[in-house]
Amino acid sequence: MVETVTGTNRSAGISLEELLPYDTRAVPGHIAKPSPLPVGPTRVPVEAYYSQDYYREEIDKMWLRVWQVACHEDDLPDVGDYTPYEVADRSFVIVKCGPDEYKAFKNACLHRGRMLCEKPGKRARELRCPFHAWAWHLDGTNKEIPCQWDFPGIDPEEQNLTEVPLGRWGRFIFINPDPDCESLEQFLGEFPSHFEKYPYEKRYKVAQVSKVIRANWKVAQDAFAESWHVFSTHPQMVSAFGDPNGQFDAWGNVSRQYNTGGTPSPHLEDVKDWGELEPSESGRPREMHPFCGAIYELREDGNVDVTMPNGAHGVFTRTAEWVEGDLGHADIHLCQWVAGPQCKEGVPVPPIGMATARPMERTLPTLDRKDLVELIAGMRTERAAAHREYIRPLFGDVVDEISDTELTGNTYYNVFPNLMPTPGLAESAIWFRFRPVGMNPEECVMDVYVLAPMPIEGEHPPAPPVKVLDPDVSWTEAEEVGFLARVLDQDTNNMPWVQRGVRNVDSGYVQLADYNETKLRNTYLKLDEYMARP
Ligand code: FES
Ligand SMILES: [Fe+2]
Repeated sequence: MVETVTGTNRSAGISLEELLPYDTRAVPGHIAKPSPLPVGPTRVPVEAYYSQDYYREEIDKMWLRVWQVACHEDDLPDVGDYTPYEVADRSFVIVKCGPDEYKAFKNACLHRGRMLCEKPGKRARELRCPFHAWAWHLDGTNKEIPCQWDFPGIDPEEQNLTEVPLGRWGRFIFINPDPDCESLEQFLGEFPSHFEKYPYEKRYKVAQVSKVIRANWKVAQDAFAESWHVFSTHPQMVSAFGDPNGQFDAWGNVSRQYNTGGTPSPHLEDVKDWGELEPSESGRPREMHPFCGAIYELREDGNVDVTMPNGAHGVFTRTAEWVEGDLGHADIHLCQWVAGPQCKEGVPVPPIGMATARPMERTLPTLDRKDLVELIAGMRTERAAAHREYIRPLFGDVVDEISDTELTGNTYYNVFPNLMPTPGLAESAIWFRFRPVGMNPEECVMDVYVLAPMPIEGEHPPAPPVKVLDPDVSWTEAEEVGFLARVLDQDTNNMPWVQRGVRNVDSGYVQLADYNETKLRNTYLKLDEYMARP
C-alpha cells in the first residue's frame, strides 16, 4: 500500500494521458482534454450530515430550487399514467397528459391538502382526490368541485393545480420546484453532448431498486463519488482497477471520473510476490488480500478462515470479529466479501476478482514503465475490439466510431445534486440516484436504475414495479442488480458508520482530497452556492 509521493495532486500510476496515444480511434475532446476543477482544500462542516437546521435550509434553498430526476418515461407508458415523486418533506405528481407530453404538479389537493396520489396509477382520465373528490383534468385544470354551492367565494377557474417546471433528457423526466428556474438545457450544459453516440433515448428501464439507507443522502452518494476507496473497501478489485490514477473533470453542474480500466492500482507498486490463488477444495468462496497475501475462505459454519503467508491463522465472523486462532485481526471487507449475505447460493461472483486478474498482474513488477504502458494499452485495444463486436448488434455500426478509451474505461458522471449516470456502453447501464426522505437528515433512499438498449425489433417489455429494500437487507436480494450487488454491499456497509462517526470529528469538518475527490468537491461547492442564496 505504499504509493510514490509525486509532489503534485496526481498519482504516480499509469494515467489516461499515457494511454491515449495508443487508442485506435479518435478520443472525444471531453475525455482527451482534461477539465480539472481548480485546486483548493475543501472542508465540509459535519452539521451538513445530521443537523435539522442545516437540513431545513438545504431543502428550502437547494432541493426546492434545483433540477432533479423525478421518474423515467417508462414509469408512465400510457396517457393518464401518473406517479408520485418524493424528496425530503415534499411530494410531486408526474402525469402523462398526452402521447408525448408530461406535466408535474405539487402533490396536494387544493381543498384540505390531501396528497392526490401516494402510489403510481394507470390510465386515469382525471386526477381526483380520494377525500372529498375534487377533480382535475390531466393538464391540471380544475374539472369539478363537488358541493360547489358550499364554496361561494371560490372561482373554479382559479383552482388549477400548481404546475412545476418539467424537462426531459435521455428518457428521464426532471422537475425543478422553482417556477423561476433556468431551463434544464442550461442547467445540463455540455453534458448531453457527451452521449451523442450512445443516446439514452435508445434505452429502456429494465428495473429500479430503491434501498433505504440509514445515512444522509450526501454520505451515501459520496461513497460512490470517488474511486480511491477501492483499494480499501473493495480490495478484491485492485488488480485491474486503477483506483487513484483516474481522470477527474468538472463542467458546471456536472463532474466525471474516468478510471483507466485494465490498469492495476498504483497501491500495488511494492507488492512483488503475487503467488497463485488456487480455487478452494470445498468450492466455497475464497479470496486473497492483495497487500498482505492472506487467504480468506468461507467455512462451513459461516465464519471465515484467514491464513497469512507465514501460516498464522484465525477464524473470524463475517463482520471480522475474532473467534479463535493466533491471528487477531482480519479485513472486514474481505470477510464480508467471502461470507456476507451476498454469498448466498445463486448470486453470481463478479468477473473482477483477484483470481481472474492475477496472472497478468504477476508480470507487471518486472516491466519498465514504457513496456508496462504498451502492455496495458495492447490489452485495452484487444478488450475494446471484443466489446465492439459484442455490442454491435445492439448499437449498430456506430461502435466503429467509439474509441478504445470509452469502451474500456469505468466512467461515472455526477449531475448535481444527486444523479450518477454512466455512458452506457454495456448491455446493462446502471445509474444511481440519492434522495433525502421525510424530515430525517440521517436517512435517504438510493435508487438503482438498470437500463438496457431497446430491442432491435418490437416493443421493449414494460418496466416492473420498483423493488424496495429495507436498510438491513442485502443488495443481493435484488437479482436485477446482478454481480454489482456484492460490491454495493461493501459500499453500503460503510455508510451508517460514516453517519455515526462524523458526530465525533473534533474539528467540526471533514476534508476532501484535492483531485481524487473532485466529484465530491464539485457537489459541495455547488451546494454552497445554493446555500449562499438569499
Ligand atoms: S382534501 Fe381533497 S377533496 Fe377534500
Ligand atoms: Fe465502492
